[in-house]
Amino acid sequence: MSRTLARRRAAGFAAALAVLGAGIAVAVVAPQRPAQAASTLAQYAEAKGRYFGSATDNPELTDAPYVAILTGGEFDQLTPGNSMKWDTTEPTQGQFSYTKGDAVVTLAQQHNMSIRGHNLVWHNQLPGWVSSLPTGQVQAAMENHITNEATHYKGKVFAWDVVNEPFNDDGTYRTDVFYNAMGVGYIADALRTAHAADPGAKLYINDYNIEGSGAKADAMYSLVSSLKSQGVPIDGVGIQGHLATQYGFPGNMQQNLQRFADLGLDVAITELDVRMPLPETAAQDATQATYYTNVVKACLAVSRCVGITIWDYTDKYSWVPSTFPGQGAPLPWDANLAKKPLYDTIVAALGGPTTPPSSTPPSSTRPSSTPPSSTPTTSTSPTRTPPTSAPPASGRCHVTYQVASQWNTGFTANVTVANTGSTAINGWTLRWTFANGQKVTQSWNGTFSQSGAQVTVTNVSYNGTIPAGGSTSLGFNGSWSGTNAVPTSFTVNGTTCA
Ligand code: G3I
Repeated sequence: MSRTLARRRAAGFAAALAVLGAGIAVAVVAPQRPAQAASTLAQYAEAKGRYFGSATDNPELTDAPYVAILTGGEFDQLTPGNSMKWDTTEPTQGQFSYTKGDAVVTLAQQHNMSIRGHNLVWHNQLPGWVSSLPTGQVQAAMENHITNEATHYKGKVFAWDVVNEPFNDDGTYRTDVFYNAMGVGYIADALRTAHAADPGAKLYINDYNIEGSGAKADAMYSLVSSLKSQGVPIDGVGIQGHLATQYGFPGNMQQNLQRFADLGLDVAITELDVRMPLPETAAQDATQATYYTNVVKACLAVSRCVGITIWDYTDKYSWVPSTFPGQGAPLPWDANLAKKPLYDTIVAALGGPTTPPSSTPPSSTRPSSTPPSSTPTTSTSPTRTPPTSAPPASGRCHVTYQVASQWNTGFTANVTVANTGSTAINGWTLRWTFANGQKVTQSWNGTFSQSGAQVTVTNVSYNGTIPAGGSTSLGFNGSWSGTNAVPTSFTVNGTTCA
């Protein structure tokens, strides 16, 4: 299972290609939405090269208004909140059930959203038969579970929380059934087993209370440093981000993320929410807004922070009230599925407009004293480009192709298409040619096809319009062998950006 090459950040940043260019003759492809500037959390995040996702759970998927928002463009990534956990997927030893997880995957695929797999090994939501196993049988059961599930979701999840919450808050290892049977070596074994089953997935260890500096974050740092030095396949650290207004904001969050990144690891904010003691007050809302802003800005400040996932998007389905009675209101949509002012705070932190729109009708479900909110398909940007269906007379483009990470047979690349022209691009087709036999194996935020060496990417429903001065980001996992040269030429709608 050991790799001949440690995963590394390629010299891709040095090789990042900026192609500034000639006019683009833009073919009009009927956009599925009115042309507009970035107007959703996902779009603002994508403009910064990140995803913005939400957890969800199967019972909620019968709630049509909820699903409409979940899939309406605000999010480009989903995490199943429960349906890929051990108690759901292997409730009886050797009997696997993926119906619930598959439902979330299908929903994500239908709406061009990526999936984080959550999770493979965790002390919680573990069926009783695992805890009852004789010590000598735990390793085989763990490896079988990981192999079966990671194989089932191969190519469907871009990342796995392979091990969830291995630490106590004081930084000691949680003495769960896995630790008791195998010692700390269960973590490396789990990662190696997951890598064998799905070599293309990014493998994470995920935990809470490691957002800022402290004993638990130090313990995680020590663990992942050791794993990296042993050549164990680990790609990232998941920072859950379950915060509470009454406990203060974690210290040195950005520096903490950066030190993980400096080990050659990605970091992701995997389960963000900020709860408060109820009733909700303006003062607590302000504190909550500051916390969300701090988290988003910390992520944006660390280039290897790949994205942010909130732990569901609406208070209607938050895990908080049942776990912490008397606390709640942790998310940017309220229990009536109306956006709170917090939504605009997050938009601003992502680099969007800093004031709520004046033209958007207020939600009938928010108290009249709250600022206006908008539907997921309505821009919150007061400075957005006026909708237009006409093709730009001319334009310019700027393509950045960045090899974000590369390992012995695979790589991940992020591509940003910027419209440096004066009019919006409505519908786009991006093409390039690989020089060394690379193949796209998995992709997001674009519809990819490959014919021989030529790759064609067309926009998906939510990113077809690139406003003047705007950009959109997409990405893919690929395979390579020998050389993985960065493509030297790109076209947008048939015209070379060169
Ligand atoms: O499925 C049963 C149902 O049959 C039963 O009637 C009902 C009665 O309470 O319980 C249902 O199970 C619940 C399960 O969610 C599915 O809804 C459990 O009681 C409940 O405890 C469980 O909570 C989940 C929690 O993990 C368990 O620790 C939350 O939904 C889920 O959001 C939460 O997620 C975790 C992450 O996985 C890891 N990080 C922390 C995060 C928040 O706790």
